[in-house]
Amino acid sequence: MSTPFTPANSAIAFNRIGYGAMQLAGPHVWGPPKDRAAAVAVLREAIELGINHIDTSDFYGPHVTNQIIREALHPYRDDLTIVTKIGFLRGADASWQPAASPQQLRDAVHDNLRNLGLDHLDVVNLRAPGLEGPDGSSIAESLATMLRLKEEGLIRHIGLSNVDAQQVAEAQRITDIVCVQNHYNLAHRGDDALIDTLAAQGIAYVPFFPLGGFSPLQSDALTQAAAALEATPMQVALAWLLQRSPNILVIPGTSSVAHLRENVAAGTLRLDVATLAALTAI
Ligand SMILES: NC(=O)c1ccc[n+]([C@@H]2O[C@H](COP(=O)([O-])OP(=O)(O)OC[C@H]3O[C@@H](n4cnc5c(N)ncnc54)[C@H](OP(=O)(O)O)[C@@H]3O)[C@@H](O)[C@H]2O)c1
Repeated sequence: MSTPFTPANSAIAFNRIGYGAMQLAGPHVWGPPKDRAAAVAVLREAIELGINHIDTSDFYGPHVTNQIIREALHPYRDDLTIVTKIGFLRGADASWQPAASPQQLRDAVHDNLRNLGLDHLDVVNLRAPGLEGPDGSSIAESLATMLRLKEEGLIRHIGLSNVDAQQVAEAQRITDIVCVQNHYNLAHRGDDALIDTLAAQGIAYVPFFPLGGFSPLQSDALTQAAAALEATPMQVALAWLLQRSPNILVIPGTSSVAHLRENVAAGTLRLDVATLAALTAI
């Protein structure tokens, strides 16, 4: 693995390749997985491979993903950082509903604590409203609640998810932010300027859907680069993110041990200048 990244305002040494646990729930991130033992095996292998950053939420399943993480990994290694997110709930029809009243945020923190088996949460992202991307609304009130939860010792560090640059700036007037988790990958590059701004501030940028999410990335440039490097297109997509900026932490999601190993091995790929340029032009 490459050199870890420690966000400003924290002492957490994140390995650059982490693991996103959303794929461990059932189809459409709802209910239990088909094979719970396989999900447990993926998490244990992640730790064996040196991953020290797991991204989750209690609204995956709901509850299911956190319960599987607890079953697989509790008691947790000291160097493992579990990052969770609050601000949404699942409706009975599996829909994703904003849930950011003070009481809903507080309840969500307690749900995460209970289901993960923890007495504090290392990093909690406020998942801001908007299912198709940031809606630009004020997040000040939600952050004030999170700050109270931090002062009570239930949260150690605060991060943001699904936010634009103005929302990041608004948040930073209220509290320190250690990470921003937004939709970004080779083919979805709206955050290029934000990544550079955060890098200058020493704040981690954690792209969600690094491999394209529910529609995996496909491109001729990716296929060609993968063939030339004797790697897979997904490995090249991850290597591109890792080389894009030192503050990027990747959290590819997978329900497969084989894919997990491939994703971790992407950390050793080096893309030369010409390959980077061809990919950046996608
Ligand atoms: N903040 C937010 O709003 C938000 C939204 C979405 C996701 N997230 C977080 O971001 C994490 C990553 O996103 P994601 O899991 O949705 O999308 P992703 O990592 O872009 O892609 C996951 C998909 O890629 C496949 N895959 C993974 N590794 C592969 C490989 N080596 N070769 C081929 N296919 C591979 C997986 O299938 P297999 O299971 O078959 O490997 C799965 O279908 C999530 O786990 C979650 O923690 C956050």
